[in-house]
Amino acid sequence: MREIECEEAGLQLLRWYDAHARLMPWRVGPAQRAGGVRPDPYHVWLSEVMLQQTTVAAVTAYFQRFVARWPTVADLAAAKDDEVMGEWAGLGYYARARNLLACARAVLRDHDGVFPETEEGLRSLPGVGPYTAAAVASIAFDLPAVVVDGNVERVCARLFALETPLPAAKPELVHLAGLLTPSVRPGDHAQAMMDLGATICSPRNPACGICPLRAFCAAQAAGIAAELPRKSAKPPKPVRQGVVWVARRSDGAVLVERREGRGLLGGMLGFPGDGWDGAGGTVPMAANWRDAGEVRHTFTHFHLLLRVMTATTDGNPERGTFQRDFQPEDLPTVMRKAWNAASEPAVE
Ligand code: ADE
Repeated sequence: MREIECEEAGLQLLRWYDAHARLMPWRVGPAQRAGGVRPDPYHVWLSEVMLQQTTVAAVTAYFQRFVARWPTVADLAAAKDDEVMGEWAGLGYYARARNLLACARAVLRDHDGVFPETEEGLRSLPGVGPYTAAAVASIAFDLPAVVVDGNVERVCARLFALETPLPAAKPELVHLAGLLTPSVRPGDHAQAMMDLGATICSPRNPACGICPLRAFCAAQAAGIAAELPRKSAKPPKPVRQGVVWVARRSDGAVLVERREGRGLLGGMLGFPGDGWDGAGGTVPMAANWRDAGEVRHTFTHFHLLLRVMTATTDGNPERGTFQRDFQPEDLPTVMRKAWNAASEPAVE
């Protein structure tokens, strides 16, 4: 696409966005924005961190709970680590929650509670990488940052019929996304690209018939839109096996252990396990353990088959602590699956 066509495509996209922008609780829509309403940078940042690797549908309820409980970045910075990890439970990729707190505290400590208003300033915050910095700069501050997520990669690969497979194609896709980024309404443009990718220019069955960019799309003209972006074959994920022990006391308390550090599920509540996560560990106490079956869970780099052992016991544990106000909602998804397995009645 020539420069002049990129500009025309950008205008078409904004026209489409004006009519079809999706409603989201963190979003200031195009009409409000035109009327001078500015998004809250705290909301934009929080939503962008939550939306990494996670769908809009899954994020919405979490976002609403977070802003109800911590209405400002100062409130979040003052929260206890365990409270934030508990609210994040189920969203996955728990390093994001640890970084979220570190970032909120850095905004308070180093920036008087105000998010920096440049891409570079945003990049200096803990856990804020190139994507998040560009997204916040663009959406919150209307700066012409080049925002490239998976949706934008797909839209650009198709518009320019780029055949190079991902991930090798990433730098070229950033360049192409930059050609499309206008100096007018860059925040609306970034969100329009994401909405187009999520609704019309979808991975499997793109709705080219109703696409506002159809006339500009090289992949559509060549009949290969649904095949792009091409992807290099990924090596298969290894399978790990492990055990967790779910112990209940007769008064209803549950034996839990908070994970240390920054590794897999770091900072999250869980049941004592045997080291499938690299943390080591043996059976937490002598008890009449019963096999409650196996649960499966997929992490970024491996599949896990987890054997769940359960017992009711009033003995003293060598690991973990019995918690009386235990709530399964505080657990990450893999541990919630283990809890559910342990809570099924025993089959004789
Ligand atoms: N995905 C990530 N950020 C988004 C946003 N601001 N709007 C729509 N989809 C998104």
